Amino acid sequence: MAVVKKFRIKKFKEGKSLISLKKISMRFTKNHQILDNISLDIPKGQVLGLLGPNGAGKSTLMNIISGLIKPNYGSLFIKGDNITDLPIHERAKKYKISVIPQYGGLFSSLTCEENLRAVSEIVIKNKQLRDFKIEKLISKFELDANRKIEAKYLSGGLKRRLVIAMALIGDPEILLMDEPLAALDPQTIEILQNIIVTLQSEFNLTIIITDHQARDLLAVCDKAIILSNAKIVAHGTPNELIQNENANKYYFGNKFRYR
Ligand SMILES: Nc1ncnc2c1ncn2[C@@H]1O[C@H](COP(=O)(O)OP(=O)(O)O)[C@@H](O)[C@H]1O
Ligand SMILES: [Mg+2]
Repeated sequence: MAVVKKFRIKKFKEGKSLISLKKISMRFTKNHQILDNISLDIPKGQVLGLLGPNGAGKSTLMNIISGLIKPNYGSLFIKGDNITDLPIHERAKKYKISVIPQYGGLFSSLTCEENLRAVSEIVIKNKQLRDFKIEKLISKFELDANRKIEAKYLSGGLKRRLVIAMALIGDPEILLMDEPLAALDPQTIEILQNIIVTLQSEFNLTIIITDHQARDLLAVCDKAIILSNAKIVAHGTPNELIQNENANKYYFGNKFRYR
């Protein structure tokens, strides 16, 4: 039997919906429907996983929530406000949304510290507060030994830690993480899994996180959805999902083994 949410610290209690997707549909070209009539409620403080094979529409769904792209059809609500037409920067500011993109997300020729400083100068006005915040994040994410190293020379795991630290500078309430565990060694994945769970328990962040590897993702999620052929084919807690017929049929297959 699987050990799911093994990093669980505090039990998540489902409350009122913070983010609501209502009948979202998206296609970029005429004949290829990427998302078809997706409705989903995400309560405050939940860690929600988006699972699905490559090309399933995970990043597209995330980009629709952040406001990077607008759906062809449907509405998006945060805290009950219809924000479907709210531009990305206004959305980020008003609802405190931070995005960690699948690729990049940092300035490769700047050092760790300079990267943090660059973001802090945009989001924090007060210099003292900026310095305080940078030092706090350097310490929390154990970046001190590498603070003067240019980002391009950092290992994959350190880069991810740095982009997460950068995303937290403005004290977000909603964190969108696109495949933060991809292409990392098992030890680094475990460090990041611990960080993700800490973000939930310490900062009460609502986190939406994608991955195409179920095993690593399910270990940190309260709930997850599985996207396949433009639809949500399964939605539930990790324990529910691994017993879900649709999840097994469309995604896990017979080869999936749990820890
Ligand atoms: N801007 C775009 N223009 C055209 N097609 C796109 C665009 N963005 C994504 N797609 C297509 O949409 C599908 C879903 O992409 P994506 O959301 O990135 O999938 P995932 O993140 O699940 O791997 C893919 O077939 C991709 O080629
Ligand atoms: Mg993607």
